[in-house]
Amino acid sequence: MSKPFDLCLLDGVQMPLSQARISPLDRSFLFGDGVYEVIPVYDGRLFRFQAHAERLARSLAALRIPDPYSRTQWREQLDQLVRANGGGDQYVYLQVSRGHEEGRNHIPPQGLVPTVFVYCSPWPQTPAEVFTEGLKCITTADTRWARCDIKSVALLANILLRQQAAEAGASEAILLRDGKLTEGSASTVHVISGGQLLTPPNSHRLLPGTTRGVVIEIAESLGIEHRSEDITEAQLRSADEIWLASATREVQPVTRLDDRNVGTGLPGPLWQRVHARYQTLKRES
Ligand code: PDD
Repeated sequence: MSKPFDLCLLDGVQMPLSQARISPLDRSFLFGDGVYEVIPVYDGRLFRFQAHAERLARSLAALRIPDPYSRTQWREQLDQLVRANGGGDQYVYLQVSRGHEEGRNHIPPQGLVPTVFVYCSPWPQTPAEVFTEGLKCITTADTRWARCDIKSVALLANILLRQQAAEAGASEAILLRDGKLTEGSASTVHVISGGQLLTPPNSHRLLPGTTRGVVIEIAESLGIEHRSEDITEAQLRSADEIWLASATREVQPVTRLDDRNVGTGLPGPLWQRVHARYQTLKRES
């Protein structure tokens, strides 16, 4: 990951990232008590802002943290920061914590003021071989909590799982719970079987991915049949294609799963079509 751009936003004030300071009693530091979003920016424009803003509102509501800004205020502040950091292709990271307090109370005190932090980073270019050779992934048990639909900054389980993948020389850990596919440690997972696109249904067990929405929309526009349904471990292992999707990965092909080829062992034909359309769409939106 590249170094973030110089300018950030802290509680609505633009400042150099090197000068941004928060209290050590901030609840995101003490408890991981906060939520976040990662939004892609192409040609200086936030991609799918609305979907990210809606998910942020859902995450905040689930934690009963008041949304510090209206949607228009969010948009204005993010647009300004993106411009101040030079526009072009980048991504925005934003985090809202419950705020800081005077002690360390498990029960959140009333009236805390949320801390809002936003920074921007240069776009993480996908290495060319991901498109020509695809990714290697492992499967592992989903050891996370029961509210994976909340985009919480408390990512310890995800980090351990991703570390496990990295130690196995893999790009992502694809997670299984009760014999069914949930998602990746930091991505959603899609499966192609018999020409159909299958995606696990949204539930408390996985994050409602914004890129997942784009992938489904593209599949529909290309006439690829799509079903949202439970995917068993056996279906995952016998898939013709497997894709990972996230704001920063876009849509990427998995060609090796637990040291076995996925399909032919090369990026599949449906991935090629969806990826090509994604590249056009992100510049048009
Ligand atoms: N993560 N599931 C998990 C657990 C994730 O962390 C992410 C993305 C996704 C995909 O969501 P989206 O398509 O909206 O990016 C699914 C971001 C990119 C991150 O943590 O950096």
